[in-house]
Amino acid sequence: MNFILINIKELLQVRENQTQVVKGKELQHLPTLKNAWLKVEDGIISDYGAMDTFENHANFKIIDCTGKIVLPTWVDSHTHLVYAGNRESEFVDRIKGLTYAEIAAKGGGIINSAEKLQQTSEADLYQQSKIRLQEVIAMGTGAIEIKSGYGLTAEAEMKMLRVAKRLQKEFDLPIKTTFLGAHALPKSFNGNTSAYIDEVIDEMLPKIVEEDLADFIDIFCEKNYFEIEDTQRKIDAGKKYNLPAKVHVNQFTSFGGLQLCAENNVLSVDHLEVLTEEDIQHLKASSTLPVALPSCSFYLEIPYTPARKLIENNLPIVLASDYNPGSTPSGNMNFVVSLACIKMKMTPEEAINAATINAAFAMQVENKVGSITKGKLANLIITEPIHSYAFLPYSFGCNHIEEVYIKGQPQIH
Ligand code: NIG
Ligand code: FE
Repeated sequence: MNFILINIKELLQVRENQTQVVKGKELQHLPTLKNAWLKVEDGIISDYGAMDTFENHANFKIIDCTGKIVLPTWVDSHTHLVYAGNRESEFVDRIKGLTYAEIAAKGGGIINSAEKLQQTSEADLYQQSKIRLQEVIAMGTGAIEIKSGYGLTAEAEMKMLRVAKRLQKEFDLPIKTTFLGAHALPKSFNGNTSAYIDEVIDEMLPKIVEEDLADFIDIFCEKNYFEIEDTQRKIDAGKKYNLPAKVHVNQFTSFGGLQLCAENNVLSVDHLEVLTEEDIQHLKASSTLPVALPSCSFYLEIPYTPARKLIENNLPIVLASDYNPGSTPSGNMNFVVSLACIKMKMTPEEAINAATINAAFAMQVENKVGSITKGKLANLIITEPIHSYAFLPYSFGCNHIEEVYIKGQPQIH
């Protein structure tokens, strides 16, 4: 469908030639065009401008956006969207006072999800995941990364990644896949972490590469999960196959994982709820992108990633959802952006930059999405008539999205 949006109250995130992530003070700048038009041809943004330059084109549908704001869709660079069943019973356990660690110790947590997933057929897993993907698209997500890590056997990890690949084929938004594998130690390994890492690297990874199932690799680098040397081995294995690393690190403890990741210049380090001064210095010396997951902090009641400290240190920041059944049962990026403003004291401009253009770099789709740029996909959010874009994070928990376009196709009916 070819169309032109006209009378757009404000077109956000208009950037040509943005070749780098936005960092430090630059994050405060959200380039916009007021009273604008935007032309979409064959699913691609082909042109835009101020209304006083608008000329009517035959064969283009004209869509009036009076009072409405248009922005690029959210880019969610960290999710575990493919999973089986839910974990509401653990949610109730937590309300009653058990901690995330206590629940994991009694067989809940990641191991619980892995058992469910191993028993779920690929077809069923696809159906469950497809519904979640449709839900997040309707909430404005227009590019998404999906991890494995609830399989914990070669067969089940590959099942997850095949489901993610099928979503990639059947949906029009950019989807990137990440082989997590080292997410928790399966019971059958009896505490022998390095034997499991051998399995992940020597058995699972070559098969995954052979079937071209992953774009990135990941590991849960954390006390009681996987150690520094496990993380180094996984990063090295990724390098061998040309798979950049995106690492879960510093969620509960700072114990050297971030330093290792930064020294290896991994693509991103995700979580960072616990961040020391030294960690910041290591980040500054690297090209690694820090990714904050505020919905996880909200749900687990753990600290929020210190966004202001990252920004003051001239670092880029990325926001993502971490959508998963255990620590973040929500893939709503609008809520992520609200939390970033309310709890992490990011301004709306900083939060929108972090959840669009910077997030696109964190999943290597910056040439396709993340900004209003000629030649990028027409993955767009159109709001209801609203006073200003700050209204979006301000009115947390409310939905002010009227339409989402993916490759120029309307998604909300
Ligand atoms: O990113 N931190 C590790 N993994 C997930 C949570 C996994 C779970 O509890 O199922 C996360 O928060
Ligand atoms: Fe995660």
